[in-house]
Formats: sequence, structure tokens, C-alpha cells
Amino acid sequence: MPQPLQQLTIRQPDDWHVHLRDGAMLQAVAPATAAQFSRAIVMPNLRPPVTTVAAASAYRERIRAALPDHSGFTPLMTAYLTDTIDPQEIERGFAEGVWAAAKLYPAGATTNSDSGVTAFARIEPVLAVMERIGMPLLIHGEVTDAEIDIFDREAVFIERVLEPLLQRHLGLKVVLEHITTMDSVDFVRSGPANLAATITPHHLHINRNAMFAGGLRPDFYCLPVAKRELHRIALRGAATSGNPKFFLGTDSAPHSREAKESACGCAGIFNAPFALESYAAVFEQEKALDKLEAFTSEFGPRFYGLPLNAGMITLERQPHEVPSRLHCNDAAGSAVNLVPFHAGETLAWRLRTGT
Ligand code: NCD
Ligand code: ZN
Repeated sequence: MPQPLQQLTIRQPDDWHVHLRDGAMLQAVAPATAAQFSRAIVMPNLRPPVTTVAAASAYRERIRAALPDHSGFTPLMTAYLTDTIDPQEIERGFAEGVWAAAKLYPAGATTNSDSGVTAFARIEPVLAVMERIGMPLLIHGEVTDAEIDIFDREAVFIERVLEPLLQRHLGLKVVLEHITTMDSVDFVRSGPANLAATITPHHLHINRNAMFAGGLRPDFYCLPVAKRELHRIALRGAATSGNPKFFLGTDSAPHSREAKESACGCAGIFNAPFALESYAAVFEQEKALDKLEAFTSEFGPRFYGLPLNAGMITLERQPHEVPSRLHCNDAAGSAVNLVPFHAGETLAWRLRTGT
């Protein structure tokens, strides 16, 4: 039997979908993302949402201020599309290098999406501008109609919204974010080169049973909600296939323990602290560790048209238990109580830090 690989050195990865939040939560969680990633596409679903160039610049400064000077981390900002957003503002922010992309939330689809788009026809002028200037559109791909079963909302979105949108904008770069279904895998795989998708660690590890194992488990509740096992298998196949249309996006979405465990618990899984370790576990289980680097560090920047990172990181085989709670402190020293993904589990790989 050959010895299993003991360490893995790969190009520094980026996270193409993360929620860094604001205020005390930002200070508590930003270091975890900066420790794992060189750049990250930062979601704009704050309250109020990030809809202007000025708001995005100010938010970028708050992110930088939440990190040590030497972190070397680059936040890539996104614009939150609303029914009334001004196409000129979008074009200006992209030209000035403030915005890397714009995010489309169907109104009501997820956390802080109330100001999202209520009728897709309203943003046609913005999409035309984005297509012309080569600015990527990032999509939360779920319909919001209450009569559509929650487990079908992503597949119905493809049929009703995404397919016609791509037809209308043949040159628009589109990332279908945090895909959860075989339908999305098939659609993205057979779609044009300007269509890609991000895949989270949690959708590679859990299926919908996790939310109900022995009782109601809010730590496994996120949106889009985890689906049945055959979808998880399809996602694992896509992520480890070496197809450049599928790349890393954690969708790390922290909510305090109290907010997760309330009578109407918030959707979102906080996976930033051990994100690479989590992906490495999947790639190892799929005997595809040789495909990890392209997924974490090459396909994303290539799709966005950005340079690959020059630095390298090393993952070591060093089994470690993920803490069941993280008590992160903000700058003022108050504790933010968070449950990390994989809480209480042992992960085989560990990111080497401090080198
Ligand atoms: C995200 C959040 O909390 O901001 N929640 C989630 O479950 N993923 C929003 C989102 O990406 O849908
Ligand atoms: Zn998200």
C-alpha cells in the first residue's frame, strides 16, 4: 500500500462567495477568511444593502480595518442589484475598480434580500451594460414563489429565469452561486463558456437529512437548502471533475448562535475557519486531491479575468478536532458566539499557518 500523501502545497486560493458582515461580526469573522484566502468576493447583503460605489468603498475600508496590516487580503466588492439601481453607477464602480461583480438576489429569496429584484425585466438595462463592459453577474438562483416546493426552487429558477436571461444576454458572464442540484450541474456543464458556478463545502458534505438528524439541527440550515443525496453526489462529481466551470465559493454566512437557534432561525453556515480543510476532505474522499488546486485557485480567477495568486499554501495531514463553538472577539472585546461547520468532527487536513 502506498503511504497516503502527508502534505499538499498549492497556489494560494481565493473565495469567490463570502459574507463578511459588518460591525462586530465583521471584526469577528474577517480574520478567518483572510487566514485561508488571498482574495474574496464579498457579498453585499448588508442592512442597508451595498448599492452605491461610495458605500462599497466605505465597506471595503471597514473590511481592511478589521484585519491586521500584514494580512495581504484583498476584498473584491459586489453591487447589490435592486429594481431601481442606476446602470451608470454600476458602470462607474466597475470602471473605477471598486466593484468586481454585481449580485442578483430575487427579492425575498434569502437573508437581507428584501431590497432585491422583484421583476427581472426591471434590471434589463443594467444587464445590458454589464454584458457590454464584461462585468460578471452573480446569481442567487432560486424562485421565491411560495407555492413552489423549497427543494425545487433552484431547478425552477433555471427553467423560468436563467435560461431566458442567458438567451437575452449571450455575452454576459454569469456565475450561478452555491449550486445545490444535479439540474444545475447539468445546466452549467452544458452551457456556454460564459456560464460558471460556485460550490460550497457544506453542499459537498451534507444532504438534507443533516438538518433533521436526531432533531432539528439549525447549524445545517442554509439557502439554497441542502437537497437529497443524489444531488450531493452530482456536486461532488462536478467539483472534482477538473471542469473549469466549477470553482470554490464557500458561502460562509455567519449568524450568532442565538440567531440560528431562535424560533425563526437564520439561514447560513459559518464554514470560513476550516474551509480549505473541508474541501480537501471531499477531494481526498473522491480520490481527486490532484484536482484540488485548480478548483480552489485557478478556475475562479480565470473566469473573472484576474491574475492567479503568486503565493503558495501548504495543507498538512494533521487530524484535528473542530471546536464546537468559536468565541470570536470583536475589537471592543465583546464575544460573538458562533458554531463552525464540522463542529465536533475531526478533519484530516490542516492549513499550515505562520509561514
Ligand atoms: C446567506 C446570508 O446569511 O447572508 N445565507 C445563506 O444561507 N447562504 C445568504 C445567501 O447567500 O443566500
Ligand atoms: Zn451567500
